[in-house]
Amino acid sequence: MTTLDVVRGTAARVADAVKIYGVGGTEVRALDHVTVEFPAGRFTAIMGPSGSGKSTLMHCAAGLDTLTAGSAWIGDAELGSLNDRRLTLLRRERIGFVFQAFNLVPTLTVRENITLPLDLAGAAPDQAWLESLIEVVGLGDRLQHRPSELSGGQQQRVAVARALAGRPQVVFADEPTGNLDSRTGTEVLGLLRRAVDEMGQAVVMVTHDPTAAGFADEALFLADGRLVDRMERPTAASVLDRMKAFERRRS
Ligand SMILES: Nc1ncnc2c1ncn2[C@@H]1O[C@H](COP(=O)(O)OP(=O)(O)OP(=O)(O)O)[C@@H](O)[C@H]1O
Ligand SMILES: [Mg+2]
Repeated sequence: MTTLDVVRGTAARVADAVKIYGVGGTEVRALDHVTVEFPAGRFTAIMGPSGSGKSTLMHCAAGLDTLTAGSAWIGDAELGSLNDRRLTLLRRERIGFVFQAFNLVPTLTVRENITLPLDLAGAAPDQAWLESLIEVVGLGDRLQHRPSELSGGQQQRVAVARALAGRPQVVFADEPTGNLDSRTGTEVLGLLRRAVDEMGQAVVMVTHDPTAAGFADEALFLADGRLVDRMERPTAASVLDRMKAFERRRS
């Protein structure tokens, strides 16, 4: 199989997705008929103002939350058709997560944190893959350290390595650089980019930051729960221009 065979296809998608929180007077329509695909081997950034539905889209696409209407798919599995047990297994085996708070286990070493999802799944790590991942994240000399002994950027690189360790179908990252300074943020974004380029990984990243979106292959823009625009090969400058145009239209 060539890399191209691996990168073909759709890693995740939602079709006509609607998410309504609350009932009656307090109802919030967080997603309003969103249809979008996240192809394999592609880095997608999800952008939009606070409250526009970015995290909701990510959580519903990743099976962390359920849609009110419409469907969400990981590969050929429709999440709404799975019972809790199968959904948990699918999340564990086919999805990697990176959150704004690094969510590392403080009592485990770097190496143990990276292999944690595999250990939980009772799966033997692919040692060659693990070693290459550790080399890519540049933490080979820190494997026995605890998270508290690492910088924020290093901790987030561990979280990215953990998300990639099981070669998931898709990695979802919600503001992975939100707590990092720009230099360490750039390290983490470079790592996600390499996972896409060198490993054919699908990455979906929620971000507010035009610079972060500049690492993606495509930027999607949400407003009020709707997909309002998309941009191929975004750059920090072009994304910033687009965001300013939205601001002008809204005011
Ligand atoms: N559990 C919840 N209960 C009720 N309303 C919610 C819940 N979670 C989100 N919302 C609402 O849904 C809308 C979309 O929220 P969401 O968290 O997806 O926005 P976001 O684009 O990720 O924003 P931010 O950039 O601030 O993280 C908001 O109006 C929010 O208040
Ligand atoms: Mg959010």
